Amino acid sequence: MTQGVRGSRDFYPEDMRMRNWLFAHFIDAARLHGFEEYDAPVLESEELYTRKAGEEITQQLYNFEDKGGRAVTLRPEMTPSLARMVMARAGGLPMPIKWFSIPQCWRYERTQRGRGREHYQWNVDIWGTESIEADVELLSVLVNFFDAVGLTPDDLVIKLSSRKVLEEVLGSLGISGENFAPTCIVIDKMDKLSADVIAEQLTELGLSSEAISTIQSTLIISNFDELRSALGEESAAIAELASLFAAAADYGISDWIEFDASIVRGLAYYTGMVFEVRDCAGELRAICGGGRYDKLLSTLGGKDLPATGFGFGDMVIMELLAEKGLLPELVSGNDDIVLAHSTELRGAAMSVASALRANGRSVDLILEPKKMKWTFKHAERTGAERLVLVMPNEWEEGKVRIKNLDSGEESDVAIGDL
Ligand code: HAM
Repeated sequence: MTQGVRGSRDFYPEDMRMRNWLFAHFIDAARLHGFEEYDAPVLESEELYTRKAGEEITQQLYNFEDKGGRAVTLRPEMTPSLARMVMARAGGLPMPIKWFSIPQCWRYERTQRGRGREHYQWNVDIWGTESIEADVELLSVLVNFFDAVGLTPDDLVIKLSSRKVLEEVLGSLGISGENFAPTCIVIDKMDKLSADVIAEQLTELGLSSEAISTIQSTLIISNFDELRSALGEESAAIAELASLFAAAADYGISDWIEFDASIVRGLAYYTGMVFEVRDCAGELRAICGGGRYDKLLSTLGGKDLPATGFGFGDMVIMELLAEKGLLPELVSGNDDIVLAHSTELRGAAMSVASALRANGRSVDLILEPKKMKWTFKHAERTGAERLVLVMPNEWEEGKVRIKNLDSGEESDVAIGDL
């Protein structure tokens, strides 16, 4: 009863400092690329997620009936909420939209390293353009973030493909339409399940053994030229990927990107480019995942609008940053600590704190009688810049003693000059 819900986290101030540090980098990278922030409620209608393609996410809902008998759920991802928001203003929003958010998402999954039952997920999406430049712009946001936190292409890789690759392969085998998304979802589980189980599940979807072996031989291609010879020069998927790689070169981010035909993603709605960020050592779960989803609105009863985006969790990246020694030492870092030398001077200390705060300084006023020794320790622990001592003789002269905690320098400063 006194424990939090399994798979959820409490954020103590030191955790919160780290989380804010991470989010500040998320926000900076998005803002540097001209994205605007949005938000939505964590509670949504369940029907927003009732997709029938067999995705794990729809089986992991934290759903319940509310007191009015409505089927609701905590959101497992942000994309359907974003789609709902876009749809509600369709026609009224100047396109393209470039929006980002850092929602908490809930999934009833098996907890393991890098996976919890709640996580914060940085979402960056562009709506209203089919241009491949939008897809590459997203990759640029990612690389910008990685650079800023000190990660390099030796640490992680953006593995990328297009759903059109599989669509063409399946199309040549006469498989299209309804079975396409469920097939992608089975294939996405390839790194978790054995080849036999995958083959079994594909057979259940009605795929012939010939189709299954063609799929399997295509998916192991991790070289773009090899794919080009497999699909042929005429292939639309090849043309799209080639222009994507050319744009990535123009952005100067090619070093971070690798073609990998096995990337198909486990969500039904993707239609074009798909990608995942993986650690190079291959020890961690996916750091980020996304892609193009041009047909989501029609599945929600609206008119389609092209869209592309990614979701980036807060858990795996923290593991990687910790492993690489890239997490900063963060302290609360108040500007000033104000201490009254004696009980009689407590009122004076309060007025000093107020004067400093009015000048925009963050002030930690010591709230009960404390010794100097304790106060120095406290200042060190919290990383304050100055100690402001309200002492009897100085106060009589209208001054306070200020000690700079970095340099150790002390001086008496007039109240008016605070
Ligand atoms: P997703 O691949 O399900 O995609 O999740 C994206 C990222 O969220 C993952 O790569 C991982 O970093 C993080 N994540 C997901 N589940 C968990 C979990 N249980 N614990 C910790 N982290 C997790 C989506 O959700 C898409 N809606 C992303 C998207 C946005 N596509 C287009 N726009």
